[in-house]
Amino acid sequence: MTKKRIISLVLGAVMAVGLLSGCVAGSSSKSAKTEEQKTEASTAVQQTEESTESKKDTNESGKTLVVYYSAQGHTVNFAEAIAEELNADTFEITPVDTYSSEDLDWTKDGSRVNKEHDDESLRDIALEATTVENWDSYDTVYIGYPIWWGIAAWPVDNFVKDNDFTGKTVIPFATSSSSGMGESGEILEGYAGGGNWLEGKRFQSNEDVANAREWAASLAQ
Ligand SMILES: Cc1cc2nc3c(=O)[nH]c(=O)nc-3n(C[C@H](O)[C@H](O)[C@H](O)COP(=O)(O)O)c2cc1C
Repeated sequence: MTKKRIISLVLGAVMAVGLLSGCVAGSSSKSAKTEEQKTEASTAVQQTEESTESKKDTNESGKTLVVYYSAQGHTVNFAEAIAEELNADTFEITPVDTYSSEDLDWTKDGSRVNKEHDDESLRDIALEATTVENWDSYDTVYIGYPIWWGIAAWPVDNFVKDNDFTGKTVIPFATSSSSGMGESGEILEGYAGGGNWLEGKRFQSNEDVANAREWAASLAQ
């Protein structure tokens, strides 16, 4: 055997081993990749199942309640629209001594609302009820009220003071002729002493309740 022939034989053998091992390594990395892909796919399925499950859980336990006070029939329309949109329950705040239209006449000196406005001690309004059935089952509570002199109409105060909002998301909303929410939400939050109070929204008394539906739907996403 010539020297040249020996070298070419050795080179051939080296290349054959290299190719073979390359092939094996290639096929094993290919199969490792397939396994990896399989694991990834099954993890993705598992995650989807888990997220569907947790969504289902949220829907089952995450009930919403719409609490409202309405003295002159505007806020109630928005409360009902929001409740319908969210498939939520409602609770109406009713003073024991309801307000007549004379009581509500803020243009008249000495009217009930004027007296209560001028003397804060008169704003401790007794309510028909402040206890909501299955209160603990609600994760989210909307609270709606008219704006009176820039703040929440005070018949709402005792409802907020009497209930424990810990662990709940609380979303105030209001109706008014022209004033904004002002600090109405923050003041109520102070009375509640608990809960995660969101900023909330004010609607003009006669605006289309579809706007309230849209707003509530956007918050629920
Ligand atoms: C005693 C009283 C005070 C009010 N104060 C304000 C006010 O400060 N700013 C405003 O824009 N509207 C004010 N309004 C108008 C109401 O906020 C508005 O009409 C509201 O939509 C009434 O809601 P309701 O019909 O659910 O009671 C007042 C109304 C009353 C009766």
